[in-house]
Amino acid sequence: MTERDQIPPFLYVVVCAAGIAAGVGKLITAAQEREWHVGVIATPTAMNGFFDTAAVVVAPATFNTINKWAAGIADTLAVGTLCEVVGRGVPVGVLTCVSDDLARHPAYQDSLIRLRGMGVRFGYPYQGAEGEEFEWERALDLVEPQGR
Ligand SMILES: Cc1cc2nc3c(=O)[nH]c(=O)nc-3n(C[C@H](O)[C@H](O)[C@H](O)COP(=O)(O)O)c2cc1C
Repeated sequence: MTERDQIPPFLYVVVCAAGIAAGVGKLITAAQEREWHVGVIATPTAMNGFFDTAAVVVAPATFNTINKWAAGIADTLAVGTLCEVVGRGVPVGVLTCVSDDLARHPAYQDSLIRLRGMGVRFGYPYQGAEGEEFEWERALDLVEPQGR
């Protein structure tokens, strides 16, 4: 068995702006029960009109995206959405994946301060050290109410 055979199958679910879009959770759950790893891409119209977004998680968050987000450079759907949801008061949890060398850049440090000041919640920074695990589920801890 090769390393590639061990990677779970990945399924992209693309959700468009039809009235039933808010029910897409059923498809995601069903896919996960069939052992797919699932990623969701929503069209901008679907994002803005059809979901009542309760929380957003960003994982892994890159140096590039953190800096663009803090500066308000909404040149991708992802960063545009992040800028917008923070403005709407939606809780956002972030797990960064940024090397020590990049993290020393003053622009990055300023970005973290700015985003924290906007209410964005950050988990413990992952630096990709030998043997260090990226704890994906910590992203959920950042946005779920205590004891949920
Ligand atoms: C193999 C590979 C691994 C990378 N890993 C990281 C990383 O761990 N952290 C990071 O900040 N950038 C990493 N980068 C650089 C980002 O991919 C690059 O800055 C990109 O522009 C990020 O775009 P995005 O923030 O829109 O995803 C990596 C690039 C490559 C090709």
